[in-house]
Amino acid sequence: MCGIVGYAGPQQALPLLMDGLKRLEYRGYDSAGVAIQHDGVLEIRRAEGKLANLAAVVAKSPAAGATGIGHTRWATHGRPNEQNAHPHVDCGGVTAVIHNGIIENFEALKKPLVDKGHRFMSETDTEVVVHLIEDELKSGKSLEDAALAVVPTLEGAAALAFVSAKDPGKIVAARISNAGGVIVGHGEGENYLASDIPALLEHTRTVSYVEPGEFAVITAGGVRFLDRAGTQLEKAKTTITWDTVSAAKSGYKHFMLKEIHEQPRVISDTLLGRVDRASGRVVFDADLKLTDDAVRALDRITLLGCGTAGYAALVGKYLIERLARIPCDVEIPSEYRYRDPVVTKGQLVISLTQSGETVDTLAAMEEGKKRGARLLTFVNVMGSQASRMADDVIYLHAGPEISVASTKAYSTMLVDLYLFAIFLGQRRGTLDPTAGGKLLAEVFHLPTLVDAVLREEPKIKALAYRHHQAKDFLYLGRGVNYPTALEGAHKLKELSYSHAEGTAAGEMKHGINALIDESLPVVAIVLQDSTYKKMLSNIQEVRARAGAVIAVANDDDEEIAQNASEVIRVPKTNELLSPALAVVPLHLFAYHVADRRGNDVDQPRNLAKAVTVE
Ligand code: G6P
Repeated sequence: MCGIVGYAGPQQALPLLMDGLKRLEYRGYDSAGVAIQHDGVLEIRRAEGKLANLAAVVAKSPAAGATGIGHTRWATHGRPNEQNAHPHVDCGGVTAVIHNGIIENFEALKKPLVDKGHRFMSETDTEVVVHLIEDELKSGKSLEDAALAVVPTLEGAAALAFVSAKDPGKIVAARISNAGGVIVGHGEGENYLASDIPALLEHTRTVSYVEPGEFAVITAGGVRFLDRAGTQLEKAKTTITWDTVSAAKSGYKHFMLKEIHEQPRVISDTLLGRVDRASGRVVFDADLKLTDDAVRALDRITLLGCGTAGYAALVGKYLIERLARIPCDVEIPSEYRYRDPVVTKGQLVISLTQSGETVDTLAAMEEGKKRGARLLTFVNVMGSQASRMADDVIYLHAGPEISVASTKAYSTMLVDLYLFAIFLGQRRGTLDPTAGGKLLAEVFHLPTLVDAVLREEPKIKALAYRHHQAKDFLYLGRGVNYPTALEGAHKLKELSYSHAEGTAAGEMKHGINALIDESLPVVAIVLQDSTYKKMLSNIQEVRARAGAVIAVANDDDEEIAQNASEVIRVPKTNELLSPALAVVPLHLFAYHVADRRGNDVDQPRNLAKAVTVE
């Protein structure tokens, strides 16, 4: 989720690159940098932190030249510091690369380069690419020929751009897989490159999209597009009609809607590199240091998270207990930190936090640590306080989440919990290898299934518009989708300002039934799983009391229509994975109810994205 820009033309590149980066700052903001090439020299300027820091660096030490690339980083491999900021250069400092995505096989590629004497300056997966290019350029190849030789050897997801003092006046861009955009902007006697439309709109509205497996060779005089074999492609030009504001949201009305639609891609990003192909075992990167012996010695897990992260934690309990047979408690951090908790030897405390800065979560982690627990955090923001405090880290790879209401971070928390529960089960021998392999295959199918749910949006929107005036809502679920009911109600409350309550459907008769009448929409998650029959009886109880039931049900469930007034369909998957699908229509429903009411969806009243005060 980094931002990429490039310029080749007659003007000074630096101000144009800085302006483009400014428009992409929402994509990543832990460091930034530029590489500008002129008269056989490559100038690099980089800075940790927000773009203002880079602006201060270039103000003191400007870089001249009319061809260059720039990058704003959202860290995936390596801490967010200047050393890991892009662009990365080869040993001679003549060629530079910027990258958006994850290169899965970088370690395998790095080893022979180190053996050959290449010097690596960063901890990133990216740097390996520029050293590979360096070797190719030694044989006198053009920059595009070097890229054509190197890029196909990379596994994973990547949008890449290169400049080299050895091949002046040229930017070569490449894209592998669907992750990360590469867009060429066509000007008059000058041409541009960007990962996103907003960086281009000031200069041109005529663009071409570089598709996976394609390359672009950009100079002031023109742009050539190549396929993997180096054959020239004819590319269509598209005219962009968006304004700059809607462009930052990729044309979506709100960041929340954009982030909901990003889920298939960010789930794919999260899954990248996390299964060892030979053994079929889940692997995490070096930030998870738990050894197999330590995993076997675990006797209890406490999961902590605030708000939406707390509901992900509850799903985690169901998963870990089922697959790894370790007793789990889920705790509210603001309670845990003050209630004298018991921590035993062999206990793991897991925090889930998108921002890594939520003060109650951090304080609860501190409390656990003080009492001797090992700390693992599932976090989205690399370099955040939670990632620095924890012994072990699993990154969400969801990219920056701008909307206050968390959606894609929640989905990636679930996906990382699936992987982690399987990881534990595989190492503790509690997961049958065949069943584990099948489950993992289904995890990898989630992006496609989430995409199918997103295609139901027009129906969900119509449903939301029918119910947008209701003052109260009830959400029901059982088993692993009990937390989904809580999260659905939570989202509706925070966005629409209506009252909504989520409950375990089995608890209705102990109080909630008293609320049911014809004015209360009841959203019930009724999937064909181990709780199906029980859920059907629960919604029949609602119907008997004149309540309107909106069921989230499986595609091929014919019985449901007789039991619910309205039905939202989701594809069938393994029961344990179903929360990742069932939550998507609930997020869309909350979004459309709130939007229909005219609320500020991205910044609901009285709420903040990262709650850094008690
Ligand atoms: C705030 C946000 C929620 C988020 C919660 C936890 O309340 O509004 O969207 O779920 O904090 O944030 P964290 O960054 O710790 O996941």
